[in-house]
Amino acid sequence: MQPAMSKTLLLLPGDGIGPEVIAQVECVIDALSSRGLDLAVSRAAFGGAAIDAHGVPITDDTVAQAMASDAVLMGAVGGPKWADAPRALRPEAGLLRLRKEMGVFANLRPALCYPALADASALKREVVEGLDLMIVRELVGGVYFGAPRGIETLADGQKRGFDTQVYTTSEIERVARVAFELARGRRGKVTSCEKANVMESGLLWREVVTALHARDYGDVTLEHMYADNAAMQLVRWPKQFDVILTDNLFGDLLSDLASQAAGSIGLLPSAAIGAAGAPGLYEPVHGSAPDIAGQGKANPLAAILSFEMALRWSLGEAALADALSGAVASALADGARTGDLGGDLSTARMGDAVIARL
Ligand code: NAD
Ligand code: IPM
Ligand code: MN
Repeated sequence: MQPAMSKTLLLLPGDGIGPEVIAQVECVIDALSSRGLDLAVSRAAFGGAAIDAHGVPITDDTVAQAMASDAVLMGAVGGPKWADAPRALRPEAGLLRLRKEMGVFANLRPALCYPALADASALKREVVEGLDLMIVRELVGGVYFGAPRGIETLADGQKRGFDTQVYTTSEIERVARVAFELARGRRGKVTSCEKANVMESGLLWREVVTALHARDYGDVTLEHMYADNAAMQLVRWPKQFDVILTDNLFGDLLSDLASQAAGSIGLLPSAAIGAAGAPGLYEPVHGSAPDIAGQGKANPLAAILSFEMALRWSLGEAALADALSGAVASALADGARTGDLGGDLSTARMGDAVIARL
């Protein structure tokens, strides 16, 4: 019999704090290797680092390598150095291309309040204690990709900037299906968020989600909420939510907002998944944090927990994923805190605190 082939992971450290947090993931991988993890890890430049090295934010080779891997884990991209370049030559364009080419249409962004962190949130303890919600953000459509878009000059000399918010039935249905399936394994409730009161794409979103629910998911509770109200409700009483289903732009906003109920954006991981069997793209919700980059202050837990999601969703290692999430919870319970959580641990010492509890 042939020995089983190693699973493959492509690491894309990126810019700013990206390489700092991914270095801690590499330490976690080393530690798990001695517990039976068999993973072939490769690395490639991404974002601003790829612009500096290759003149583009992601090369064709890196895209091909990503599609041929079992999972891809990124740090973050972007920063002031590249912020004024033409759009196609900005780090963020590389991330959008990678998401689109990988076809990872559903971005799972969980927000958990760890028991030890119930006082770390800007919200009151009773509001966040026990919080466990999942945002399912559509990731490869909507206004991020809609055409036409551009900035044109009008006859009177002023300029006009425009983007197109657009969704088709099948784009809405496939991401809604992910949300309903997830709800079945959780508390059985989906809150679908759009602006059907003002947007045509929002109206279609509501129609398609309602029809899919009636057809296939009658056992799940479906609620519709305008996205502006959802933002308010996330601060007022976030525990009313189980699974939030929403589009690309609203999902971007609502997930940064939800991070504050969890305690810090430095804690929020995500998994972007596509067709069954296709590789997943794992990304912390946070960015490259230029304000703290290079200072060893970044919280590595969002990246470590994104790797935990990769173990679970793409690498077939649920037991190791459980061990890793347990180690994070116990490090926090024992008081390990980076600056964003009110402590003074460096990025590396926070990584050590997790590894020591594996
Ligand atoms: P950001 O998430 O980088 O930072 C917002 C704030 O949160 C900053 O004060 C930062 O210090 C803090 N923060 C973020 N992550 C942290 C961590 N792990 N530990 C401690 N504190 C943390 O958002 P921004 O400042 O709006 O964006 C900076 C750059 O990152 C931009 O170029 C943006 O486009 C990019 N960005 C990239 C991604 C990604 O690659 N997935 C996500 C968001 C933003
Ligand atoms: C995120 C980021 C990205 C997004 C940017 C960097 C393209 O904010 O992943 O939340 O808007 O999707
Ligand atoms: Mn964002």
